Order: sequence, then structure tokens, then C-alpha cells
Amino acid sequence: MTIWNLGSINADLAYAVPHLPAPGETIAATSRMVGLGGKGANMSVAAARCAARVVHLGAVGADGAWAIERMMEYGVDTRFIATVDGVTGHAVIMIDAAGENSIILHHGANHEIPYDLLARALSEAGTGDWLLMQNETLLQPEAAQLARRMGLKVAYAPAPFEPEATRAVLPHVDLLVLNALELEQLQQVLGLDFAGMGVATVVVTEGAKGGRVHQQRGGWQPERFDAPKVVAVDTTGAGDTFTGYLVAGLDRGMPLRQAIGLAARASALMVTRNGTADVIPDLKDVQDAGL
Ligand code: RIB
Repeated sequence: MTIWNLGSINADLAYAVPHLPAPGETIAATSRMVGLGGKGANMSVAAARCAARVVHLGAVGADGAWAIERMMEYGVDTRFIATVDGVTGHAVIMIDAAGENSIILHHGANHEIPYDLLARALSEAGTGDWLLMQNETLLQPEAAQLARRMGLKVAYAPAPFEPEATRAVLPHVDLLVLNALELEQLQQVLGLDFAGMGVATVVVTEGAKGGRVHQQRGGWQPERFDAPKVVAVDTTGAGDTFTGYLVAGLDRGMPLRQAIGLAARASALMVTRNGTADVIPDLKDVQDAGL
């Protein structure tokens, strides 16, 4: 089957810093790296690295041809990435000595994806395919409704948390993947418990502690999963790697717990690497790492 990922594409400008700056503080970076990122692109690359067929739906500016080429090199179908007016999205990322990050986003072209691109792309989709989305683009509600009508399954990572998009998309979602902070925001701001979300399966990631799955058919009782123990150097893109691998595993017919196990191993390996889309491990790396 195919994963159709409506998602952002960013240039990631990553700076290593001794600590994240306090308000009013100026600090010097100890290194700088520029690479491919964006929660959407990261998930597409992760799913492709997990040997899934992935079509990315997105947009870049005229300055973003390199990003399309790179995604193609990484095995993503880029036919539905538009080049639009304006600049390619970008992210300024600060990474501290413990590998934690703070990110500033400029949406740029990610907010200019034309509706007709979405409609054209999904007209090629088939029953049983997945639609995957995050919150760094627009059009998520339209995409989710269209996909559901066509018999696709919908996976959604509501990151960064955005209440209105999340509220509009949730009724059309089969699989929700989010971190513990995003879950708290979602429950507080939207006032929803698990049953109220209307989603059959919710996967909550908790970084080095692993995470938990809540399922409607299990009465929403949490079932925990572990994360392999590693020394983190950069956690940027680890959640995206988890989600891309998880959806790819499910798309390839794995049972949920097995797909989660694989995703947790891929994301643990990812935090041992500096960078985002460019360093997402492939299946062989994950298997060879012995985590
Ligand atoms: O989740 C990490 C990603 O968030 C980075 O690649 C950055 O581009 C932002 O979208």
C-alpha cells in the first residue's frame, strides 16, 4: 500500500549550544549544521527508510529545489511537491549539551500548498492506503475528510500543537501519535478525554521512558512500551522518526505492538545521531544496531 504524507519541508539550521539561552541572553554556538527537515519531510524519509512506498504532498519556494532532490534520493515520491511563490520553510534549532532542543519555525511555502495538489494526489490513492499529517501545513481537515471518504486510514501527529487544526481533524483520525506534552495540551485546551477524541488508537511517546498505547477496544487502559537505552546527542526528529516508522510498519502489515517496537528502536538510534532527515536510520541500520 502507499502512505500519502501531507507535510512540511524545512531547511533546518541547527546550532549546538552549551545551554538553551535565557531571555535576554546571548550565547555562541559551538557548531552549525544545515540540512533537510520539517516534521513532514522527516516522517516521509523515515517511512521510506522503513521500506514503505511514500508520496509526499507539500510545497517549497524557488529556493527549495535541493530539498525535493534530497527527498527523492532518500526514496520519497516527490511528484506532488509544488514550487510556489515565497521562501521554503525553515527552522532555527538550538541543541543543548544534553541533546534537548528549542525550535523556531518559519512556515514559508508550507502554508501555500494548493488545494488542487491535494485533490490531484489523493485521486491516485486507494482503499487501505494511509494519509499521514502533522500541524506544520494547512489543509489537514480537508485532507482527512477526503481521505476518509476514499477509504484511507488516517494517522495524525498534532505537532506542533495547534488547537483549531487538531479539533477539526480528530473526528477523521484512526491513529493519533503525540508526545506527553502535546497530549496534556490537547486534553486541557480542547477539554477531551480519550473517549471524547473519537480516535481508535492513541500512541503517546515519552522520550527515553518509552511511552504508552491507549485503545478504544482496551477500554483506554494504558499499555506501556519501553525505549532502548542509548546516549542521546540530539533528540531533534526522533519523534518524527518514531511516527514515520510506526505508520510504515503498520502499512507493511505489522501488528501494532511490533510496529511500535520497531519505531522505538529506530527513534532510539536516531537520537544518537546529529541532524534530522539526512541521518534517519534505515531498516538495516536499525536491525544492525542490536537495540
Ligand atoms: O521535529 C523536528 C522538526 O521540527 C525539525 O526538522 C524542524 O524542521 C521542525 O519542523
